[in-house]
Amino acid sequence: MHTTLLTPHDIARIVAAHGLPAVLQRLEAAITADFRRWGEFDKVARVAAHSATGVIELMPVADAQRYSFKYVNGHPSNGRLGLPTVMAFGVLADVATGAPRVLSELTLTTAMRTAATSVMAARALARPGSGVMALIGNGAQSEFQALAFHHGLGVHTLRLFDTDAAATDKLVRHLSGVPGLRLVRCASTAEAVRGADIVTTVTADKRNAVIISPDLLQPGQHLNAVGGDCPGKTELHPGVLAAARVFVEYEPQTRIEGDLQQMPADFAVTELWRVLTGAAPGRLSASEVTVFDSVGFALEDFSALGLMAQLADELGLGRPIDLIPSPADPKDLFGELLAGQPQLRAA
Ligand SMILES: NC(=O)c1ccc[n+]([C@@H]2O[C@H](COP(=O)([O-])OP(=O)(O)OC[C@H]3O[C@@H](n4cnc5c(N)ncnc54)[C@H](O)[C@@H]3O)[C@@H](O)[C@H]2O)c1
Repeated sequence: MHTTLLTPHDIARIVAAHGLPAVLQRLEAAITADFRRWGEFDKVARVAAHSATGVIELMPVADAQRYSFKYVNGHPSNGRLGLPTVMAFGVLADVATGAPRVLSELTLTTAMRTAATSVMAARALARPGSGVMALIGNGAQSEFQALAFHHGLGVHTLRLFDTDAAATDKLVRHLSGVPGLRLVRCASTAEAVRGADIVTTVTADKRNAVIISPDLLQPGQHLNAVGGDCPGKTELHPGVLAAARVFVEYEPQTRIEGDLQQMPADFAVTELWRVLTGAAPGRLSASEVTVFDSVGFALEDFSALGLMAQLADELGLGRPIDLIPSPADPKDLFGELLAGQPQLRAA
């Protein structure tokens, strides 16, 4: 049997063929469709291995046909070593046989699926007509968030801030010239969030940071809080959560990893799938503050892996690799080892 290998180059070619807006839109549709059949999935909070510098996590999920897992890390100080903060890869397998069908890069794919999930949440929770977004944290994820909100939700003005001016320089360089998108560089988070309909925080710092405090909130804002995703790594002051209605992906995981970790165990939250199926309301009024406490859930990677595998297949991309031995007699695994190594047979 063969497993199909998808590299970052393959993902870039898929995006080149279809255009980023279309890929983001298809990702959002795929993730939404899977969240709407929430009950069909075997779910578990991700398994984390913590260290002084970061975390390495495994994220499994399955329905009756397909199983996926993602390996992902989060090391905020990696930039100093010339490495990305977040790196990922994953597998899509057949449940019926356990055969791994696809082995894929998931670093680029994670950035796209995270942005698509943010838009999925904001579509249900932000005020209709939200056109101005603050984007706090202008690192690796930021262009994806910016473009997903521009193309998917009609955001026309981005108010940018990062403690590292070079990160904002890079973001501005990439987004300058996007038709209909206005970029406003701000001197602080407080300045950036002023007048914003949506506030996206996508910072990386291994501590309980306070990017957004209650005094910065304005009535009706939607917060898309992406960077607080690990024990001891948060972005929102607890008072922000207390002042808002809070929406999560998978509650057992977000209680441990999200900004929600700062709140009492009985603090009420709503899982997004319930809003997407109509089982629970989204935004209730034009003045309430809503928070999507995003941490990233395995189901988003399951949806993304399936879509990328399909698009790669349609474009003839991906390389078959021998990840699993294929002995003519499935019981003769030792024979595979001997093939081409007659000295072993002698020994
Ligand atoms: N929720 C999810 O599904 C999901 C998915 C991917 C990444 N993430 C998280 O998103 C965050 C960003 O990831 P990335 O790959 O862009 O990381 P990155 O290191 O490339 O960028 C992070 C940026 O945040 C900036 N920053 C740090 N502290 C700040 C502060 N106080 N104010 C303003 N800016 C600040 C840094 O200067 C940097 O430019 C990480 O914390 C990562 O773990 C979450």
